[in-house]
Amino acid sequence: MTIETERLRDRVAADLLRARDRTALLTEAVDDGDLIRQHSPLMSPLVWDLAHVGSQEELWLVRDVGGRDPVRPDIDELYDAFKHARADRPDLPLLTPSEARRYVAQVRDKALDVLDHARLDDGRRLVADGFAFGMIVQHEQQHDETMLATHQLRAGAPVLTAPPPPTAPTPVNGEVLVPGGPFTMGTDTEPWALDNERSSHQVFVPAFHIDRAAVTNAQYAAFLDAGGYDDPRWWSPAGWDHRQAAGLTAPAHWQRDGDGWAATVFGRTARVVPEEPVVHVCFWEAEAYAKWAGKRLPTEPEWEKAARWDPATGRSRRFPWGDDPPTARHANLGQRHLRPAAAGAFPEGASPLGVHQLIGDVWEWVASDFAGYPGFAAFPYREYSEVFFGPDYKMLRGGSFGTDSAAVRGTFRNWDYPIRRQIFSGFRCARDA
Ligand SMILES: [Fe+2]
Repeated sequence: MTIETERLRDRVAADLLRARDRTALLTEAVDDGDLIRQHSPLMSPLVWDLAHVGSQEELWLVRDVGGRDPVRPDIDELYDAFKHARADRPDLPLLTPSEARRYVAQVRDKALDVLDHARLDDGRRLVADGFAFGMIVQHEQQHDETMLATHQLRAGAPVLTAPPPPTAPTPVNGEVLVPGGPFTMGTDTEPWALDNERSSHQVFVPAFHIDRAAVTNAQYAAFLDAGGYDDPRWWSPAGWDHRQAAGLTAPAHWQRDGDGWAATVFGRTARVVPEEPVVHVCFWEAEAYAKWAGKRLPTEPEWEKAARWDPATGRSRRFPWGDDPPTARHANLGQRHLRPAAAGAFPEGASPLGVHQLIGDVWEWVASDFAGYPGFAAFPYREYSEVFFGPDYKMLRGGSFGTDSAAVRGTFRNWDYPIRRQIFSGFRCARDA
C-alpha cells in the first residue's frame, strides 16, 4: 500500500467522522417527537434524513464498493428520494429514531471495514481517488445542511448554539472589474468533483463588474423601504406572479421591529445585523433587488471566473485564495457559526481581484439555468444531476455557513427552484462593463 493510499484512507475516515459528528449533533439536539415531526412540507422529518444517509452509505460503500451482503434490503425503497416526495415522507413506515441510530451505526462499521480493505487502485472509476467515499461524505454533509435548514423552520425553544461569526476588520463594499477574456471553467482534476462540475472547458467571458461582497441586510432593507416589493417594474413577470401568489413582503423569517427589521434565527429573534449578508431570499427576490439597484445577477461563468481566475497566470484556482483547502481563516463554513459573517470578515479568503466571501456565508443565486458542461457524462448515476437539467432550476454557488468544507469548492454547483428560500441563500450583483 502506498503512502498516498494510506493518506487517502485517513482523510476519508476523518471526513466520515466529521460528517457523523454533525449528523449526531443535529439529530440529538431535539427529542424523538421533533425527529419524527414534519416541520415544513418542504422538508423531510429529521429521522428520514438520518436513515437515508445510512441507506445511501449502505448502497454505495457496503454493497457496491465492498461487495458485502445488504444490511437492510427491506428499507431501500423507503429511503429512495426519487420514490417519495418530501411532503409524503412522514406517512411512510419509517424506522423509529432508535432503529435509525442503530442502523446508521451498523452501516458505518461495515463502511469503515470496507475502507480498510478496499483496493482503491483496482481500475474501477467508482473507487479511484476514493471517489465513492468522497461522494458519500459530501452526501451526508449535504443532508447535514438540509437538516440545519429544517432546524431553522422548526418552532419551539432554541436548541442549537454557536459563537457569533467574526466581524470585519475593514468593511468591504463596491465592485471590481473582471477583464474580458478566456477562462477555464469546471474541472478534470478535482478528485471528488461530481459529474456536473466536469469537464474543464474554456469559456470567453466578456468584461463585467461584480460586487466585492454579497448584498447585506442593510442594502436589502433599503430595497424594502423603497417599496421594492410593491413595484412590478423590478420583478420579472414570473417573479412578480410568485411575489403576489406567495404574498412575499420581506426575506423569510424577517419581521418589522420599530423602524427596522428583526429576524428569527434558529428560534431566537433579534435585529438583523446591517453588515451581514441577507439570507433566505428566493431567486426572484434576488433578481428584483439587482434590477432595482441598476445591476443584475452574475451568470454562472461570471461567478466562477470571479472566484477562480488568477489574473497573474490566467489559471483557474480551486478556491478564490488558492489551491489549499478552506480553513477557519478563509471562509465561514461547517456550521461553526449559525449565520453569515459581515462583509469583509474573511480578508484571507478574498480572490486576487479582491472579491470577498465567494465561498461560505450564503449560497449565491446566479442567473443561469442548470445544464451540463460540454461533453457531460452522467456518473455514477443519472439521478445525481442530469435529470434536473433544464430551465426549472436556477444555480447557486459557493456554499453557506451551513456547508462543510468537503462539500464545496470553486467548481461546485448547487441548484434549486427559483421560489425556494428555506435554504441559506443570498446573492451578489454584477453588471456589464
Ligand atoms: Fe440524499
